[in-house]
Formats: sequence, structure tokens, C-alpha cells
Amino acid sequence: MDKSKRRVVIAGNWKMNMGPAETPVYAATLAGMYAGVKKDAAVDVAVCVPFISVTAAAAALEGSGIKLGAQNVHWENKGAFTGEVSPSMLRQAGAEYAIIGHSERRQYFGETDAGVNRRALAALAGGLKVIICVGEREDERDAGITDELVAMQLKLALRGVAEAQLSGVVIAYEPVWAIGTGRTATAEEAGRVCGVIRRTAASLYGKAAAEGLTIQYGGSMNAANAAELLAQRDVDGGLIGGASLKAEDFMAIVRAAMR
Ligand code: PGA
Repeated sequence: MDKSKRRVVIAGNWKMNMGPAETPVYAATLAGMYAGVKKDAAVDVAVCVPFISVTAAAAALEGSGIKLGAQNVHWENKGAFTGEVSPSMLRQAGAEYAIIGHSERRQYFGETDAGVNRRALAALAGGLKVIICVGEREDERDAGITDELVAMQLKLALRGVAEAQLSGVVIAYEPVWAIGTGRTATAEEAGRVCGVIRRTAASLYGKAAAEGLTIQYGGSMNAANAAELLAQRDVDGGLIGGASLKAEDFMAIVRAAMR
């Protein structure tokens, strides 16, 4: 498939920033700026906000065209799971996307590949779109196992996900050593590993389905490097942490993605 036919997704990951009092102000700023951006129907722009700010963000972004997501989601719709938030709750609050398996969840909160898979299956069944994160740590990169590791994470995350559900799946390649460090993978390296992801998806679903899959790069993407990263054949968007907290920078990345 021609790259230009794939859906591009530019998603901000606010991480643990912007509470319900700060969110309306910042979201309104983003909405105002986005109103002036020349849109491309094939490009989705989203912000993934803290659970507690989803409702406030939904109200502030209404009618703006900016989509809304959360940063995690549980695998059951209700029950005795203290501290968790379900797919159905997120839909009720106005979220359309959920990030799953972010490396910070894996690193600090013990999330496993099996849990990532359960969350992905439940989120898709519950009508959410998922942004599933994969990526190697620096020691894994140094050991030369990036490609195998990323392929394995992908296969485990997508276990039981049907080809028909792939339209609700975005994969984010996020090398852990590049997250929040200001060190970006070179565009070639990012593009190469996103190619590994696409070939792995092809081994699971066939070439045509894999060609249609949206694969983001994430890890210190910013206004200065976005265009080069997004120009890579297998990079269809970005998951943006730090730079998504600065409206000007985030919108510069959004503009770079509009074709
Ligand atoms: P960063 O974060 O852009 O601050 O590196 C990306 C992410 O963790 O999704």
C-alpha cells in the first residue's frame, strides 16, 4: 500500500500532567490553535490525558476535532479492581483511545506482555481504539536484540486480536532509551524498526492488512525532528510526551503530519 493511504495518528501523551483544573485551559488553547490548522482527513490528532482529566478534556475539546484518549485501561468492565478504570467507564467519559503497554507502565508498575494483551482485547471489545506501545531498553539495544524483542512484544500484545479489529489498533514504537531523554532514534533507525513491526504484523495477518496498519514513532519527537521521522516509509504518526505539553510544539508536529 502507498504510505499516503494509511491513517496517520498524532497523539499527545500528557503522562501525569494536567489535572482537571488545568486541563480545560490547556485543551481550549490546543482547540483554538487546531482550528487554524489546515486539516487532512487521513490524520487523526488526539491527546491522551490522566484518567481524572478525561471528563474535563472531553468538554473542552468538544467540536474541536481533536480526539481524546486515556493512558491505560483495565481488562474488565467492572468489579473489584481497586484503582483501575474500565473500557466502559472511559467510553462514558468521552474517550476514544487508550494507550496500552507504555514502557513507564511496564517499568514502574509491573505490567507484563500478558496484561497488555488482556487490556488490548478488552479495550477493543469495548469500542476503544488502542495505541499499543512496544520498544527496547538501552541494554536490550546494546545486546542487539531490538528486532526480536519488538517482534515478540507485538506478537504477545496482539494474541487473539482479529484482523477485522486492526482498524482500531495503532502500534507505537517507543525505544525506551529515547523517551523523555532528548535522545531520538535517527529517522532511519526509527523507520527500520517500524518496518520490522510491519513485517511482523504481516506474518500474523498477511501483507495487505499489515500495510494498512498505523505505526507511530515515539521518543523525544519534537517540532524540529517530526518531519524527518514522519517521512519514513513505515512511520505513520507519533506518540508525543514532553512536546505535547507545549501547545506550539505539539501543533508544529501536527502541521508536519498534514499532507
Ligand atoms: P517523550 O515521551 O516524547 O517525552 O519522549 C514519549 C512517550 O513516552 O510516549
